[in-house]
Amino acid sequence: MKNSIPTNRVQLRTCLRILCVALFLNPCQGWAEELTASQRGYRNLTTKAYLPSDFDQDIFDDLWTVWEEPLRSRAEKATVDSRRAMAMERYGLLPQQKLPSHALQYVVAPNGNWAMSCLACHQGQVAGKIFPGLPNTNYALETLTEEVRSIKIRQQKSLGHMDLGSLLMPLGTTNGTTNAVMFGVALMRYRDKDLNIVPRPFSFDMVHHDVDAPAWWHYAKRDRIYADGFAPKGHRILMQFLLVKENGPLQFAAWEDDFRDIEAWLLELKSPPWEWEVDTASASVGRHLFENHCADCHGSYGAVTDSSIKYPNRIVSIDEIGTDRVRYDSLTRTARRNLMESWFAHSGLDGGDDNPSGYVAPPLDGIWATAPYLHNGSVPTLWHLLHSSQRPRIWKRTPSGYDQQRIGLDIECLIEMPSGPLSNAQRRGYFDTRRIGKSAAGHDFQEALDENEKKALLEYLKTI
Ligand code: HEC
Ligand code: HEC
Repeated sequence: MKNSIPTNRVQLRTCLRILCVALFLNPCQGWAEELTASQRGYRNLTTKAYLPSDFDQDIFDDLWTVWEEPLRSRAEKATVDSRRAMAMERYGLLPQQKLPSHALQYVVAPNGNWAMSCLACHQGQVAGKIFPGLPNTNYALETLTEEVRSIKIRQQKSLGHMDLGSLLMPLGTTNGTTNAVMFGVALMRYRDKDLNIVPRPFSFDMVHHDVDAPAWWHYAKRDRIYADGFAPKGHRILMQFLLVKENGPLQFAAWEDDFRDIEAWLLELKSPPWEWEVDTASASVGRHLFENHCADCHGSYGAVTDSSIKYPNRIVSIDEIGTDRVRYDSLTRTARRNLMESWFAHSGLDGGDDNPSGYVAPPLDGIWATAPYLHNGSVPTLWHLLHSSQRPRIWKRTPSGYDQQRIGLDIECLIEMPSGPLSNAQRRGYFDTRRIGKSAAGHDFQEALDENEKKALLEYLKTI
């Protein structure tokens, strides 16, 4: 009898296991097969590492040791969990809901290795809330990379593509914006049109500059992508960012289905609605003004069934728009053609425009959520966008503060950079519009309106 109890327990456990398998596992597998393309796309983005890892958990947990004071001392006294939270805030990362010690923007393998995902630049928060496809306007990529490199050297670990790449080119000189366009150019330099790796010397004549990632929910409306609208849409073009030497042509081909699903997810994204009060009378005056002064370029907005909704995909010449032109000038016709004629665009079949005239007037859906504004992220609120002469020369945002009056980032404005010594990490917290590629000038169409009209227009912009 003594032995029968454990035996029964074993039998019971075995029975339970079989039951579990029968009841849960098979339906689970069935469920996995039944995911829609877009659900699979989101799963790919959040769980599959398409790039080699940038650092491991030990490195991430040691990063605080290179922070400036008094942050370092605060981190030293903190628990491991709150230190991780401090690190996420410093680098502009968001905790995963189910596993707050990991960041949403990285795919963390069971062995603790962190690989950057598309969400690094393309998933952020506004007013502390996460909406799918909202750009990450807090990402401190350059600071994270520099500090990871210091820890790797101390822990005697080998340097990866980001650690080495960032010695050759800047990754992002202002938090929330990155030199992503030039990464693309630099990486394409080492590939032929079929993505075979070709050895070439590094090019030092690239015009480095930082760009603010656009909201992904615009993807469906755009007929071509990027600030100058030169590149054709398609699942292949979405894979450009994976051009590290570890990924050869066969690997790209093998991942095509994954990116078909990712594109399906992008195509389904919708902008989030404004969450606070709206003065509806004023907003309807604003709607009228928008139709007369803005809609020719930006299109019309309204209920989904509204047949008047249109989006013209209009490119405005660089002289007419008058915003910072470094991004426009930084891509040569050859650089554009290299992409358009490559595997990424089906060797030219997908089309594109190697000589666009300026910048596209982007869709404005969910514009309340996507501050800062303009392609370089130089204008912190919609109020500032509508008041050209009052745009701040230098500004610094709070990590997740939201300005409901001016619609956009909660900021402090400065005339000069602070006089005391700043660490590189601290300096990147300031947006200095005097620097190359960072001008906040231009887009003066709203100056035809008086102050009351601008107020009504601002109210309307909350609702689209
Ligand atoms: C390091 C930051 C960064 C990462 C990582 C990144 N992107 Fe981007 N992405 C950008 C920036 C910046 C732009 C704007 C470029 C421009 O307009 O010239 C952009 C533009 C885009 C656009 C065009 C949107 C539009 O409306 O024009 C798409 C689509 C896109 N990225 C998809 C992806 C995908 C998919 C991945 C992952 C494979 C990815 N990105 C990884 C920074 C990034
Ligand atoms: C002649 C065409 C044109 C007109 C008219 C125009 N815009 Fe624009 N707008 C653009 C272009 C082009 C850009 C992109 C400029 C850049 O990023 O450098 C832009 C950018 C913007 C942005 C920033 C978008 C973002 O995601 O950062 C907002 C907001 C905006 N416009 C609002 C308006 C409003 C409101 C009006 C009406 C008063 C207006 N625009 C009239 C062409 C136009």
